[in-house]
Amino acid sequence: MTSTGGTAEGTAAVVLVGGQGSRLRPLTSSTPKPMLPTAGVPFIGHLLSRIAAAGIRRVVLGTSYRAEVFADYLGDGSAFGLDLECVPEPEPLGTGGGIRHAAAALDPAFEEVMVFNGDILSGVDLGAVLAEHRAADADATLHLVRVPDPTAFGCVPTDASGRVEAFLEKTLNPPTDQVNAGCYVFRRAVIDAIPEGRPVSVERETFPGLLREGRRLQGHVESSYWLDLGTPAAFVRGCADLVQGIAPTSALPGPIGTSLLLDGAKTAATASVSDGTTLGRDVVVGDGSRVIGSVVMDGARIGDNVVVTRSVIGPRAVIGDETVVSDAVVGDDVTIGANCELREGVRLWPGLSIPDGGLRFSGSG
Ligand code: GTP
Repeated sequence: MTSTGGTAEGTAAVVLVGGQGSRLRPLTSSTPKPMLPTAGVPFIGHLLSRIAAAGIRRVVLGTSYRAEVFADYLGDGSAFGLDLECVPEPEPLGTGGGIRHAAAALDPAFEEVMVFNGDILSGVDLGAVLAEHRAADADATLHLVRVPDPTAFGCVPTDASGRVEAFLEKTLNPPTDQVNAGCYVFRRAVIDAIPEGRPVSVERETFPGLLREGRRLQGHVESSYWLDLGTPAAFVRGCADLVQGIAPTSALPGPIGTSLLLDGAKTAATASVSDGTTLGRDVVVGDGSRVIGSVVMDGARIGDNVVVTRSVIGPRAVIGDETVVSDAVVGDDVTIGANCELREGVRLWPGLSIPDGGLRFSGSG
């Protein structure tokens, strides 16, 4: 990653990974969102690759939901070139409480801490965010991304010097297209002042409180790649963007291309796998089937003449011949018979079994 700005040596990072990921259920029933396989590796691997590339070494992960999964996978972080520690919360402390709790594991010599939501895929130049924070001598600096439809977000207007003016709730007529991108730089003392031992929302409590106190909050506004992987639709898009090189990462376990096939994945000669699809380990795709912009997890089997579009197929799931799966989530170990149709937001919970022709169904998100 190229950086246009400040050096990150001497800066530590906190990554928040403790959320329940409820919008991604049932995928997150067994695996926390930042550990879901995205383009062949747990999502956190892509984020950590970017943090390491920016020159940050010391990283603390604030864990809560399924905390043990992170520690098992990441260890001490040396495989990522990092000095990493997972710090479980005694109870979910929210985003602000999570930052406060995790940062307590950092040496006080780190006067500047970068904070990352653990579910954001972004191309922001981390060095440039740091440089802006230092140039503004800010108490905290927020990466603000410009989005085409700001009505879906709370927005954050800034003045001509980049100083944050307000934190506004979602509205139909937002005065700006700048939204909180889930990446911040904090002066250490600001983190230490977040109340301890209770849930705190950094977005709803900490930032508005700092603004009321007249503290300097800076916005680093830009419009590089940015995606919050919170929903199934965003998750499949983010995966496809990583595979195709649209989203930046140095953790892709293969070359950039139209698809990514992990070890042991097999496709029939007459099948096609496209638009950034990932086939996990030992996946089988049968004759005449098309898999488009989707994530097929380890050990899943797709029969003949199946069409899978923008969907997630969970580990070991089986999809029968002639079935259509579109904008859907199929949980772990689900078996779907032949000639079924799943469309628009259908989610099948792990272990379900659907007989041949047994499902012609649309869901709602
Ligand atoms: P949803 O339940 O689908 O909203 O997802 P989520 O639980 O991940 O919540 P959200 O997307 O709002 O969280 C933003 C970031 O903060 C994610 O990286 C979460 O893992 C993290 N997060 C949310 N709540 C907590 C918490 O209580 N503790 C910690 N350590 N992290 C949290």
